[in-house]
This record gives sequence, C-alpha cells and structure tokens, in this order.
Amino acid sequence: MLNKQEIISLLQDEENQADLLKRADEVRHQYVGDEVHLRGLIEFSNICRNNCLYCGIRRGNTKVCRYHMDENELIETARRAAALGFKTIVMQSGEDMYYTEPRLCRIIEAIKKFDVAITLSIGERTYEEYKAFREAGADRYLMRIETTDKELYHKLDPEMSWQHRYECLLAIKELGYELGSGIMVGLPEQSIESIAEDLLFLKELGVDMAGIGPFIPHPETPLAHEKGGTLGLALRTMAVMRLLLPDINIPATTAMESLHPEGRIMALKAGANVVMPNVTEGEYRKLYELYPNKICVNDTPAHCRSCIGMKIQMIGRQIGTGYGAHKKAS
Ligand code: SAM
Ligand code: FES
Repeated sequence: MLNKQEIISLLQDEENQADLLKRADEVRHQYVGDEVHLRGLIEFSNICRNNCLYCGIRRGNTKVCRYHMDENELIETARRAAALGFKTIVMQSGEDMYYTEPRLCRIIEAIKKFDVAITLSIGERTYEEYKAFREAGADRYLMRIETTDKELYHKLDPEMSWQHRYECLLAIKELGYELGSGIMVGLPEQSIESIAEDLLFLKELGVDMAGIGPFIPHPETPLAHEKGGTLGLALRTMAVMRLLLPDINIPATTAMESLHPEGRIMALKAGANVVMPNVTEGEYRKLYELYPNKICVNDTPAHCRSCIGMKIQMIGRQIGTGYGAHKKAS
C-alpha cells in the first residue's frame, strides 16, 4: 500500500501524470470492470441553513432565488428518472429543514416503489433521522468530509464542526448505509500533504464511494477571488484514490466537466466508474448553482442521459444495468 510520502510524490508529479492516470485506469478495469454506473441526481432544494464560505447556495448568498420541490414534484421527478432507466436516484439538497423526518420518509418510501436504489445527500442530521431514513428504504448516503485539515475546515465554515461531520459519517456507516464521502481539492491554503491525509482518511473510514472535485470559486461568496482547484490535481487525486481503494465506486464529478468540456470522460479514463447525470427539471437546474459554469443547466434529463450514454460508449465502456452497489473484492 502507498504510504503518505509516496502519495504526496504522485500528487505533485505533473510530468508523469499520464502514467498515474493510466495505472488507475488499469486498476479500475481489473477491480470493477468496464461498466459505468449512472445515478440520476435530483437537486431538490437550494435552501440551506449553513454558510460554508465556498458554496454558492450558502445561507448568506442573498442573490440566490431559493426553491424547494414539494413532495409530489420530487416523487414525480424520481419517477421520470426511473423511466429513463436510472437504477439509482441521488436526492441532494442544502440543509433544508422543510424536509422533516416524516416528510422525507414518505418520499423515500414512494420512490422505492420505482425499483431504484436511493442515495441521500442532504447533509448533517441526527442519528434518529438517519435511522428513520434507512428504515424507510434509503440505501446509500453521500456526504463529503471536504477536508481533513480541521483548522482549514473551521475557517471555511466557522459555524460548523469537523468532529460532528465525522461522527455523522460514522453513524451513517453503522446504520448499514453504503457510505459515500469525498473532498474538494484546490481549497485556499490546502496543502498537498493535507490532500494525502484526506485520501488516507477515506481509506481508513472504509468508504464505499469517494468523490473528488475541484473547488471552483463562486462570485457571490467570500472566496470569489481565490484561485480554485485545477483539473489536473483533481484527476491525480482521484487516480491515487483508485490505487488506494481499488474496488470502490468513484464518480467522474460534474465539477471536473465544468473545468473542461471532456472532464468526465477524462475522469472515466483515469479511475472513475460512476457518473451522476442531472435529472432535475427546468429552472431548478440553474438555481442550484454551487459554483459558476455548472454544466448542462439548459438541458433536459433525457438529453443528459443520452449524451453521457453516447460518450461512454465512444470510449468502449458499457452502462451498468444493475443498481451499481459497491462490490467488495474478497
Ligand atoms: N448539503 C449537503 C452536504 O453538505 O453534503 C449536500 C449538498 S453540498 C452543496 C454538495 C457538495 O458540493 C459539497 O459537499 C461540496 O464538496 C460541493 N461544493 C460546494 N461548493 C462548491 C464549489 N464552490 N466548488 C466545488 N464544489 C463545491
Ligand atoms: Fe449548505 Fe452549501 S452551504 S449546501
């Protein structure tokens, strides 16, 4: 297994990046095969009680036109995504307390009837809520730790607690969810050493899925004038993640494609085996603006599904037909 110093060297080595990405692609092929699992992403609310400095939908951004789907609208969006062939629905939102435990449980139970796996990505909740959602039928939970540099984490959101987020991840795992986490790269003051520690942390946590995205500064946030992450560093980080955890699910993240028109395909050729096309409909797509230049904001779910499907076939890969759960190598 790679040690911290070796990870740092790989992350720093821009010159031999192509070799690293190729190695990750080979490991991906060997451990998880050539299938690409598609997850239909519903961005069902941009209302958030938090104020993370980096995030476009933070509470303090008064320029955002806020929305949340109502119960029926959300269920109907999921029904249509299932009809397009998605076998996993990812329900993502800000921390919006309109979605109470009973309301979310009703929604989860209704969506489960469409024969899909459900991933929740709704941030920090209580143990009892996580338990209730799991019992209602939620299969997976996605919550990035963002960074393991605690000082940086608390600078990026002085009101939040790293320890609490970590405890939420432990609770989610204990409750039997498939656990997805991940980080952003290119945060202000984030060092390569700290990214190496993040990767070792994700390995230690035993995640089933890990998403690596470049930080992209949003003009209406306090970090508007920061540099942001590069696609190269995000790809190298993702590739090292594949080497460290060879059998997990790794998404080609939307933020990567926001930096480069072929970003997701580049990621699929560098260790990724999952894509999460947006199945949110209409105006909501534009309003869920975590960062600028978000892709596909004027497209329809059907268009995104067929566009990514074609791209995947063009690189000689197949779209997964099952639920795409983490298959642990023995
Ligand atoms: N509220 C939920 C949570 O906290 O997990 C889910 C929504 S949150 C917006 C989803 C992810 O978006 C975050 O975990 C973060 O990594 C990413 N994100 C937010 N702002 C970003 C930015 N400016 N650039 C890149 N990614 C960003
Ligand atoms: Fe809550 Fe970004 S600050 S989703």
